[in-house]
Order: sequence, then C-alpha cells, then structure tokens
Amino acid sequence: MTIVVTGGAGFIGSNFIFYSLKAHPDYRIVCIDKLTYAGNLSTLKPVMDNKNFRFVKLDICDREGVYKLFDEEKPDVVVNFAAESHVDRSIENPSIFLETNVIGTGVMLDAARKYGVKRYHQVSTDEVYGDLPLDRPDLFFTEETPIHTSSPYSSSKAGADLLVMAYYRTYGLPVTISRCSNNYGPYHFPEKLIPLMIANCLNDKPLPVYGEGLNVRDWLYVEDHCKAIDLIIHKGRVGEVYNVGGHNEMKNIDIVKLICKELGKPESLITHVTDRKGHDMRYAIDPTKIHNELGWLPETTFKEGIKKTIEWYLNNREWWEEIISGEYQNYYEKMYGNR
Ligand code: NAD
Ligand code: TYD
Repeated sequence: MTIVVTGGAGFIGSNFIFYSLKAHPDYRIVCIDKLTYAGNLSTLKPVMDNKNFRFVKLDICDREGVYKLFDEEKPDVVVNFAAESHVDRSIENPSIFLETNVIGTGVMLDAARKYGVKRYHQVSTDEVYGDLPLDRPDLFFTEETPIHTSSPYSSSKAGADLLVMAYYRTYGLPVTISRCSNNYGPYHFPEKLIPLMIANCLNDKPLPVYGEGLNVRDWLYVEDHCKAIDLIIHKGRVGEVYNVGGHNEMKNIDIVKLICKELGKPESLITHVTDRKGHDMRYAIDPTKIHNELGWLPETTFKEGIKKTIEWYLNNREWWEEIISGEYQNYYEKMYGNR
C-alpha cells in the first residue's frame, strides 16, 4: 500500500506519518510538502532514513508536478493535510488560503481521479460549521450541521469540502472527509494558542489572550486525530463525513492559566489584547458517528496530553527556538506589536 500524504512537514501531517510508519511497517509513505513557513524539514528527521518513506518538495497547486509524482508512485490512498491553517493569517491575507486550500485540493482531486486512487481523504476542520453560542452547552456540531463559516480560513476549507463531495457525486471518486476539533501536541507551530503560550511562558514574555479569553475550543491530542484518520481510510464508508473530537471543551483563559501553573510562571504574564475579527465563540464536536461506526474513542485525556506536550516543548527547545528566531519575529511584531 502506498499513501501520499500532503502537508506532512506540518504539525498534524508529521504526526500522522510517524503514526502510520509505526502502525503499518509494510506501507510506503510519500510526503509532498511545499515547505511554507509552517513546514519544517527538521520535523521529519526521525523518518528521513526510513526505507518506506520518501519526501518530495512540491506545491499541491503544481498540477504537472503532482501528476508526475502520481505517475511514479501510483498511490493507493491520498491523505490531504496540506493547507494554510492559521485563522489570523487568513484575516491578513486571504488569497493564499484560496490558492492552497481550494485550488490545491482541486489539483489533488484531479490527480486522484486520473490515477485511480482507491481512497482520497480530505482532512477538514470543525470550523466549517461556524460557531456555537456560549449559553447553549447542549448544542454540538454533528455531520448534519450546516456549513456556516466565519473566517477566510474556514471558508476556504469549506470550499474544499464541497469540491471533495462534488467529485464523489459527479465522478464517483472514493472520498472521505474528517472534520476535527482543535489539536495540540508535539511539533505544533508556535503561532497557535497552546505552543505560543508555552514558548512565551518559557521566555517570560507576555501571554496575549484575545479579548476576555472566554472563547471555547474542543481540544484533542494530535495522536488521537491521527488514529481517527487511519481508521477512516481503512474502514470508513466512502462518501461520508466523520466528525472527530473528544468532548474536551475549555476556555482559552483557563488553558493559559493551566500552562502558567504547569511551568511555574505567574499569571501576571497574561495580557488581554484586541480581539480577533469575527472571532468564533465556541466549537464543540459530537463524535457519535465515528464512535458508533468505527469504534473510535480518544485515548489521551487533556490532563495527560497537556503534560506530555509541555514536556515535549521543554525537551525540544531547539525545534521551536529555531522557528521563533527567524521570519516568525516579523510575523509576531506585525500581529502583536500594536494590539
Ligand atoms: P500546519 O500549518 O502545521 O501544516 C501545514 C503543512 O502544509 C505545512 O507543512 C506546509 O508547508 C504545507 N503546505 C502549505 N501549503 C502547501 C502547498 N500549497 N503545497 C504543499 N504543501 C503545503 O497545519 P496543521 O495544523 O498540521 O493542519 C493540517 C490540516 O489539518 C489542515 O488541512 C488543517 O485545516 C486541518 N486541521 C487542523 C487542525 C488543528 O488544530 N491544527 C484541526 C482540524 C483540522
Ligand atoms: P488558534 O490556536 O489560532 O486556533 P483556532 O483559531 O483555529 O481555534 O486559537 C485558539 C483560540 O485561542 C482562539 O479562540 C483564538 C485564541 N488565541 C489567543 O487568545 N491568543 C493568541 O495569541 C492566539 C494565537 C489565539
């Protein structure tokens, strides 16, 4: 079995590659990644010498390059993680989100069709459902919740999902989609909430909480997401969407306080800054379908997962310090300088 994994030099894609090579030692994994600011080749160092792994630097929008690769590799399965993934960046510059997330997905779908892949899996997000009100804790996103996006990021992901379903209906392409809640864990780029707060805490820098910090996210340890995708590509029903989440809702402010506590840093580092435009209030996944159909359940509790994550950032300082010493400085100044 050969699996093409796009975006494998990023956070979830790399964790998926590590998981797959371990879970399926006889599979060949071919990673294609453009190596944008979010893609880091050093992340893939642990598997670079694995004989079942190949890395190819390639943009998913490069049709000719993608077809050439499919011609060489004849993949059985495609898992499309590649995306521009940060909401704040999408608010600053939407167009690259449309290119990679929509046009790039279109190219991957065409390649999957042309070369007859047995399964095309699209890694989507719960953000396509929009948000839920804070005063209705009884409401959750199900697979039937209408698409109702807020940011250019989520809109581009929703556009991609619609295209994937169109290829299923129109051409009979064997597709599946997973829509997962917020992930956390090793190799998470330090522009996102949890790794940013860990890195800033460790450097005794202010912890920028948007608004009051009352927004709620439903956090899942990244390996549990990888296991869900692995189950879906092997046992999921073609043409279906599967929501993935662990019923672990937390307010941003509580996460930041917890990180301070775990690292022995004062809460006085917390600084409330101007809120994100169009900020979604609450995400919450109902994972009943994937549980009932595929037997998936999250295995790592938040308590365990956040400890493991903090430990990883403590033990892998060179990984994130290298990131925050480069271009990231300009990004940080632009996003947080006058907030
Ligand atoms: P990430 O930003 O850490 O990684 C994205 C990777 O894609 C990077 O390696 C980047 O170099 C690569 N990439 C970007 N544009 C590319 C292009 N044009 N061609 C080839 N490669 C390109 O993102 P992530 O957090 O790992 O998210 C992966 C996927 O999972 C995304 O599709 C995202 O929408 C989805 N998702 C993320 C979360 C989350 O909490 N992080 C939750 C649900 C779904
Ligand atoms: P983020 O990690 O960007 O994920 P998403 O927006 O896709 O859910 O943000 C998670 C939450 O944390 C979100 O409500 C915005 C908030 N946030 C902050 O308060 N401060 C920050 O510096 C960042 C990056 C996010």
